Formats: sequence, C-alpha cells, structure tokens
Amino acid sequence: MTRQTGRILGSDLVVARRSILKGAIAGAGLFAMPGLVAACGDDDDSGAEGGGGGSEVEVFSWWTGGGEAAGLDAMIEIWKQQHPNIKFTNAAVAGGAGTNAKAVLAQRLEADDPPDSFQGHAGAELSDYIKAGQLESLNSMYDDQKLNDVFPSQLIDQITVDGDVYSVPVNIHRANMLWYSPSVLDAAGVGDVPGTFDVFLTALDAVKTKGGVTALSLAEQWTVKHLLETVLLARLGGDGWAELWTPEGDWSSADVTTALNDLKTLFGFTNSDFASLTWQDASKEVADGKAGFNVMGDWAAGYFIELKKAPETDFNWAAVPGTDGIYLWLSDSFTLPKGAPHRDNALLWLELCASKEGQDAFNPLKGSIPARKDADKSKYTGYLAYALDEWSSDSLAGSLTHGVVANNAWNTDIDGALGLFLSDKNVDKFQDALGTAHDTHAA
Ligand code: GAL
Repeated sequence: MTRQTGRILGSDLVVARRSILKGAIAGAGLFAMPGLVAACGDDDDSGAEGGGGGSEVEVFSWWTGGGEAAGLDAMIEIWKQQHPNIKFTNAAVAGGAGTNAKAVLAQRLEADDPPDSFQGHAGAELSDYIKAGQLESLNSMYDDQKLNDVFPSQLIDQITVDGDVYSVPVNIHRANMLWYSPSVLDAAGVGDVPGTFDVFLTALDAVKTKGGVTALSLAEQWTVKHLLETVLLARLGGDGWAELWTPEGDWSSADVTTALNDLKTLFGFTNSDFASLTWQDASKEVADGKAGFNVMGDWAAGYFIELKKAPETDFNWAAVPGTDGIYLWLSDSFTLPKGAPHRDNALLWLELCASKEGQDAFNPLKGSIPARKDADKSKYTGYLAYALDEWSSDSLAGSLTHGVVANNAWNTDIDGALGLFLSDKNVDKFQDALGTAHDTHAA
C-alpha cells in the first residue's frame, strides 16, 4: 500500500505543478511551444517527478536469466542511453513460461498495484486483461508512430479488441521446434532427422537402445503441455488444431486419442526427473550431448547462443515431426496497465519496444524474430535466419501454452487435467477432462 500512496501523492503534485506551469506559459503567450512545456514538466529525463512519469519505470516479465534475460538486458542498455535519468526497475519474476510471474501479476492487478508495463502474450491471454478492464488502449500511440504499418496485420488482430489495440509486440517465437544433438544421433546411427512421428519414434528407440544418454529430454509440467500441443498439431494438422479452440472443437475425436497416446508413448523415452528440471536444464542436455532430442520453443536458440554452443555442430533443429510447414507461433508483447504509476515513462518503454532499434537488439539474443516487418535481416543468423525464412512461407497456428488460442482460465483447467494424467497415465480420463475444459471455456 505504501507504493500506492506514493503514486497518488506523486500524481497530485504533478497535476498541481503542471497547472501552475501551464498558467505561467499561457500568460506569457507561449501556447505554441509544446517543447517548452515538455522541458518544464512533462519530460521525465529530468529525473524529477513529472507528467505522470516520475523518475522510474517498472517493467514486469519472466525473463530472469538462462537465455531469457539477455534480450531484455540489451533493451535496458538502450533505455539507459536514451533516458539516463529514468531508473529502469526490472521486476522480472523467475519461472519459465510465466508460471510464477502470472500469479504474482494477478495479485498485483487485484490489489490495484500494477507495474508500469507487463509482458502478456498476444491472443487469448491478452484478451483476459483487456476484458477485465486492466489495460489502456494504445490507439493514439499506434496512430502517432504509424505502428499499424510496421506489424503484420494478423498479429495486430491478436492484440485488438473492438477496434482498440492494447499492446506492443516485441517478437515472434516458434513453439514447434525439435532440437537435437548431431553427435548423439550419429552415435545411435540415426541418419535423417525424423520427418514423421513414426520415424521420430524409431529414432528415439535407437538413441534409447544405444544408451548412456536421455532420448528425449523433458522438464517441469508446462514443458509437458508444450510437448502435448506439438503432438496434437502433428496428428490434427493446422486446421484440425485451430478448430479445437472454437465452439465446434471436437476433443473426443480419434485423432485426439492418437495424439494423447503418442504423448504417453513419449514418456517412455524421457528422463524420469523431469518434474524438477527447468526448460533450460532440459534443452542444455541436448547442446551438451547428453540427450538426443528436446522439444522446446525457439527461446532455446537464445539460450544456446548465450552458452556459446555452435549451431549445426553442438545442436541442430527441425520442425517437430509431422508439423513441417506450420509455424506454431506466439508473441511476447508489453502493455500499459490502467493506473500505471509512471505512465509517461511506460509509454517511453513501449516506444522502445516498438522501435526497430529495440527489436533488433532484443530478438537476436532472445532467440526470436522481430514482430516488425522491416527489421535488419543481417542481424539474424544461424537458426534465426531459418526462422525468418519459415515465417515468411509457413502457415500459422497459435500456441496453447503461450497464450494464443486459450486464455489463462482454460490453460489452468488443462494444467489440472495434465497433472492427473502425469500420475495416472489414463488416456480416456485425460481426453474427457480436456473435452470438459473445452465445453467450459469455448464460448
Ligand atoms: C514463453 C515466452 C517466451 C519464453 C518462454 C520460456 O511463454 O513467450 O518469451 O520466455 O515462455 O520462459
């Protein structure tokens, strides 16, 4: 509550000081000099309280390290150069895919204690915040900075509700990526990278039989859901996958049953301690030559870069078998919560997120491609050059685990069902529970 009192007091002061300044300026006949007004009261670089800005910006995400933070740090460096007098408070909460961060954020929003800007996935996840009235529209920023021209229109659709746009996308990630160790595959006599699920099973079997390494490295529960969504995509195809998230979606189909059995089969190839590992632990196994395969989003590429692993030698990649030609996408975006204590600074942060400079500093380290269409392609090499190519030619499907196709509540119900499945391995029960979750949430 201390923090909130500070904010209210701060903004009262700001309003009072602004009126005095504006009165003085108007009296001096200086109406037509907005720059002067900014220099006196609205510019936050002064380091003083001003314009709803204050001398700080607090940015909330779940990028705390292990490849996650490097991209954010690159943007913080630019922030420091652009706004040396506005302190950047990095309020990141550790935990892959926002598992902890989202809970902390929910509590803060509930307590009317928002950060100045928080990370939210484009799509259904963002709609939750919009529908709850927790975000400000960014229409005027989009108009002023002509952002409607720089982002793909399908992406803008995913951050727009009733004609109002609510966030700034910083990247595009791909979820359906298979990472593999060339040396482990060689040793097991696996020649070609598996293109279908059945060939994948044969390759896993070869690695398992050779022994000494994990065939398919896996981590905590959200990574199992991530694996599940890729297997469903492989068995249902892009259209079948998209339909699951509509009111007509049929979760009782034979294809869904096949996919759930596939997931169960995959458990026979994973490390048994997966529940206690982070995604970084599991991905690193591949790059260290201790596992054959890992299914993970392309933030793994960012982590491998940070670990100084050599592409195509220490690790290599392909689409998850059966999903080639489909980009199972997600996008990290930043928002302007209603009641942001340093609103003007939040807008400066969003401006940085939207900029070509910001995106081209952030994405090559994050392992993602820029949301902007006009990025400097020379900065994207190795895996990322491949990703840019695929993005321009693949068909699109939205990620479940990372907020595109289902909102937080639907995801939570799926998490509950998956948790039970992990202990009882009962496909029928799991499929029923997924159907119930669909009926509850697919409006
Ligand atoms: C996703 C997020 C990515 C990455 C990943 C692992 O939800 O969009 O940027 O952070 O989680 O934590």
